[in-house]
Amino acid sequence: MNCINSEIMEEITNPFPGEEIVCATVLGSGWGEAIENFNIIQKIDYSDIPLLGQTTVIGHAGSLLLIEHEGRKFIVFQGRRHFYENKGWLPVLVPVLMCIKMGIKNILLTNAGGGLSENMSPSDVMVISDHINMMGCNPLMMIDLPDIFPMFSDQSYIYCKELQNKLFVSAVKADLQVHKGVYLAVTGPTFETPAEIRAYKTMGASAVGMSTVPTAMVANAAGLKVAGMTCISNLGAGLSPNALTHEEVSENVGAVIPKMAKMLGNFWAGV
Ligand code: HPA
Repeated sequence: MNCINSEIMEEITNPFPGEEIVCATVLGSGWGEAIENFNIIQKIDYSDIPLLGQTTVIGHAGSLLLIEHEGRKFIVFQGRRHFYENKGWLPVLVPVLMCIKMGIKNILLTNAGGGLSENMSPSDVMVISDHINMMGCNPLMMIDLPDIFPMFSDQSYIYCKELQNKLFVSAVKADLQVHKGVYLAVTGPTFETPAEIRAYKTMGASAVGMSTVPTAMVANAAGLKVAGMTCISNLGAGLSPNALTHEEVSENVGAVIPKMAKMLGNFWAGV
């Protein structure tokens, strides 16, 4: 697998030069429509962004948006590339590398995930307080940029406490049912078995999903402030009688789109 080094970094672009951007947001499965009523100033297709490429996952639009909200500028990655798409780490990490190029200091990572805690219901949201990486590898092994990334980065506080609180309050104000908890990442693309879900519960996970963790690790290592939110799209395998489908995931996230839109506006205004 190719290393992410200074030559790769030269190819990473700043598509909005001269703009001062407060925060980048990555919208995960089902979240895409949450930004449709914001003031979108510019839209770039992922296939026009070097090294990113178009997402192959249904429900992930694949557009980078420049948004103006309450007089300040924000960017939104509407859809994400996943490790399970089997294109290596680079497309997964390009959004963070672009944030570094653009000098962006805050990143909000959103996703859909299976809920493991007893008190969670589909369409609730969870502020990510910490994570467990069960993807079987560490994306920082692929990065050779010593000026940006230390060899051994601290992961004691990946999810910025101040941003966690802002996210929590933003969700409450948007009338979302909100929890705080630990997100556990697997590679996918399969959902888990019931035995895996039981094991992950005993490990301390509150939600499980197939994304976010690599981006959060790399953003944290580069010194960005990271926030993360999961929309509980289903209960983990075996916790409800239903078999799991991507359609159910999209539907349950879709059900709270207007509230998630409010939550995003509240969060951006306060960040
Ligand atoms: N497991 C893993 N990823 C997911 C799930 C799940 O139950 N729901 C949405 N993404």
